[in-house]
Amino acid sequence: MTERTLVLIKPDGVARRFVGDILARVERKGLSISALEMRTADVDVAGKHYAEHAERSFYPGLLNFITSGPLVAAVVEGPRAIAAFRQIAGGTDPVEKAVPGTIRGDLALDGQQNLVHGSDSVESAEREIALWFPHLARG
Ligand code: CMP
Repeated sequence: MTERTLVLIKPDGVARRFVGDILARVERKGLSISALEMRTADVDVAGKHYAEHAERSFYPGLLNFITSGPLVAAVVEGPRAIAAFRQIAGGTDPVEKAVPGTIRGDLALDGQQNLVHGSDSVESAEREIALWFPHLARG
């Protein structure tokens, strides 16, 4: 079934010049990029995006990082796009969880500065797409 997911190339990914590499991996997987924008997130959007982590000790640092410079936000579509992107991203911890061949497994070391974000469910995807791309909100 065709799905859509919200992908972020985080500020570390932009700073390390991996935008092209990461978008190429998305397309090589067979997924389509249907919206794409570079911007610097403000604290309001970043806080809403990561609201589920608000009580975690790493939350202030995460907001600081995600607003620290330009990032790329994208809507990615395709069959099982949510799981497919999370597969090519690799696990959150780039060393303990992400395996070689994945974005994080190949290119990252840090559990916070881990290059990309991908929605974890249909509900999260629709909430996050509405947040980053309000004109693409459904329902
Ligand atoms: P992401 O997939 O965007 O979802 C939540 C983010 O919080 C995660 O990627 C990391 O960037 C960050 N994160 C998760 N766990 C930790 C942690 N233990 N310490 C610091 N940052 C974390």
